[in-house]
Amino acid sequence: MKNILVIGSTGQIGSELTMKLRKEYSNGTVVAGYIPGAEPKGDLLESGPAEYANVCIAHQIAEIVDKYDIDTIYNLAALLSATAERYPLKAWDIQMNGLLNILEIAREKHCAVFTPSSIGSFGPDTPRDNTPQDTIQRPTSMYGVTKVATELLSDYYFEKYGVDTRSVRFPGLISYKTLPGGGTTDYAVEMYYAAVRGEEFVCPIAYGTYMDMMYMPDALKAAINLMEARPRYLHHRNSFNIASMSFDPEGLYKAICAEIPDFKMRYEVDPVRQAIADSWPNKMDDVCARKEWGWTPSYNLESMTHDMIARLREKLL
Ligand code: SER
Repeated sequence: MKNILVIGSTGQIGSELTMKLRKEYSNGTVVAGYIPGAEPKGDLLESGPAEYANVCIAHQIAEIVDKYDIDTIYNLAALLSATAERYPLKAWDIQMNGLLNILEIAREKHCAVFTPSSIGSFGPDTPRDNTPQDTIQRPTSMYGVTKVATELLSDYYFEKYGVDTRSVRFPGLISYKTLPGGGTTDYAVEMYYAAVRGEEFVCPIAYGTYMDMMYMPDALKAAINLMEARPRYLHHRNSFNIASMSFDPEGLYKAICAEIPDFKMRYEVDPVRQAIADSWPNKMDDVCARKEWGWTPSYNLESMTHDMIARLREKLL
């Protein structure tokens, strides 16, 4: 049995992860943690308990852990890269002080902790192609700074206190259920919405800018499978490269045009997001995740595009 707290349960990842965890661990409890203004609704609210869970208020998290006898925390609270550049102190507070609260509670109350890292944990000095698992991490964005520190602090709590911390470096995540907000890779999700609505898409990221991307079902599978992996096979913990596809805006545009031939796109590059994208890898090497816990993605650009368009048609039209 597992009793799980998902912090950030109404966000892009949380809204789908919470529902999947409730299906997979139906004999346990999966608590949907949220902050005011982002309350759970519909299925998410009706299918299990929900609690106000602000990572920056330690006693609130500790009380939930006690109340539900929580053994695993998925800590998804974060400001994404472009928003973090606008509010760097707030990003630091949520991503670092919030994480420290979680790790301290996990140490005292013996919880496992999953806190995502990202392609954003790399920087301009990192090898861009087939970016190795263990390599230079000198990011130039506040988001990246907090993600490298997340990896280090999580490994520190494992080495020093034995807290079962695990993590993946997520690529840009593409999904139809809940929109991402304030990320550099969000353009890919927005492109699908524009195509299905029959609108022209104005792309904020330049032609030729390759980044790792992943469809949400693969991202959820990665998070759950890593937390289920046998610890003795894990040589790494915080954090694993995982990859499934890499494309630039033009590659995505062509894949969408294969299904919606009259779709139109033009470029109007946003310098803030472009600078962030230019500092990130083109494509990560995920051999360690494959070897240590059996990671394999199920979707490529074509199969994701086919599914995204079908789901968005159901949702929007
Ligand atoms: N999707 C995130 C962003 O663009 C990166 O992990 O900020």
